Amino acid sequence: MITEQNISFAIGEYERSQVFINSPWKQYVDGDNTAISNAAKQGAILFFNTQEEGGADCASCHSGDFFTDESFYNVATPQIGSGKGDGVDGSKDFGRFRETQNEADKFAFRTPSLLNVEVTGPWSHAGAYTSLTEVVKHMTNPQVALDNYDITQLSQDSIRNLDKLTENTQEALDAASFEIVPVSFNDVEIANIVEFLKSLTDPCVKDRECLAKWIPDTNIAEDPNGHQLNAVSEEGNLL
Ligand code: HEC
Repeated sequence: MITEQNISFAIGEYERSQVFINSPWKQYVDGDNTAISNAAKQGAILFFNTQEEGGADCASCHSGDFFTDESFYNVATPQIGSGKGDGVDGSKDFGRFRETQNEADKFAFRTPSLLNVEVTGPWSHAGAYTSLTEVVKHMTNPQVALDNYDITQLSQDSIRNLDKLTENTQEALDAASFEIVPVSFNDVEIANIVEFLKSLTDPCVKDRECLAKWIPDTNIAEDPNGHQLNAVSEEGNLL
């Protein structure tokens, strides 16, 4: 029977069946020294080491097997889009604060897992970054990233409040809740961190055949009333 509860059970089962953890990084951790490149190894050192050790301490938040501590932080990623109605003009992204009303949670968002992050763009809560390199640059130095933010990476027609981007994001950067300790990394170091992040990709997520069991065949699924559930237009878009 199609009920709201059964739909949520079905979606839960579907999501639980998608476990993509067989990454080169896992093989490396399991003892295969050749599973990842030297660049990725250098990137891993920068990712895990503290600032005192010359790293960026990314793992203070992106920790554990899933690379997340499941906590909330203000890391001031650029605010694009309509926001949720916060602030006088309703264009700010107050994030976790909306739930807790706690000043320390203002502009805070949950640390996302970094497993398969290579294929989960656009990145950050608002999708402000369309390149992994740019989001890594942001995480190393948010102020410099905001000052150099390239708005042309967005398909701007569909995004509201772009005129507020700098002002609202600067407010997050200046807020007491802001949590990133900036580091100055050169382009090679940034590229090495990106290589490390790519080593967290399970090859299955880039292989259509491997993913086939989760992708519906076109034009066959019908609901009990005979409506197509996955109708696809000639251009290949889901209808
Ligand atoms: C203080 C905690 C914290 C630290 C330190 C931190 N991050 Fe993050 N990271 C976050 C949070 C929170 C987000 C989500 C921001 C948002 O949604 O706007 C995030 C987002 C990201 C994303 C985008 C993921 C996605 O799916 O959109 C990447 C990639 C990332 N961080 C990598 C790094 C790297 C690399 C470092 C170290 C240079 C780092 N982070 C340091 C908390 C942290």
